Amino acid sequence: MLEKTKVAVLVSGGGTNLQAIIDAEKSGIIKDGEVVLVVSSSRKAYALQRAEKNGIKAVYAKNEEEILAALEEAGAELIVLAGFLKILSKDFIRKYENRIINIHPSLIPSFCGKGAYGLHVHEMALDYGVKVTGATVHYVNEIPDGGKIIAQKAVEIQDGDTPEILQKRVMEQAEWILLPRAVQQISAEIRKGKENDNN
Ligand code: GAR
Repeated sequence: MLEKTKVAVLVSGGGTNLQAIIDAEKSGIIKDGEVVLVVSSSRKAYALQRAEKNGIKAVYAKNEEEILAALEEAGAELIVLAGFLKILSKDFIRKYENRIINIHPSLIPSFCGKGAYGLHVHEMALDYGVKVTGATVHYVNEIPDGGKIIAQKAVEIQDGDTPEILQKRVMEQAEWILLPRAVQQISAEIRKGKENDNN
């Protein structure tokens, strides 16, 4: 069996989705991938501490050049955007075509695209008055939130929801489940591909 798929997670904030991935690796839900690197676009992101606590290399990168250098050094094969709030350039995306996935806290194509991130997404859903929202994992292409959908899960909106309450429910009922599963699925595909190349 060839070695596991090397996964890099790009973050900007608290890193609860990163934590879900780390926990899934520990519990065996993710068995074909291993997180080898966490890169943050913010020096203060708590996600960096989560990585360090788990013995994962954690770096702050101020631009794409630094991100690319860290990814290459780590030999990253799958890049997971988990609350990463910078939009990646076309060149970057081309370099890792079909190897970058993102989690978005709504049912794409609703409440997505440029400017739709974090709590704003839930504000948009509540302002619109939809009764169901959710989360989406998708491949990243040059259109923000426009790449092929990998998985989606719906979450009900309840009377009295605030953006904060809704964000928490979407994370618990959708994001923290969907993202680790997608990481496992794609890590397995990449690992299998390497094996086939070797035979
Ligand atoms: C998550 O809800 C994620 O879906 C969202 O930011 C939050 C990060 O939380 N991402 C986007 O809005 C991307 N457009 P976390 O740092 O605790 O994982």
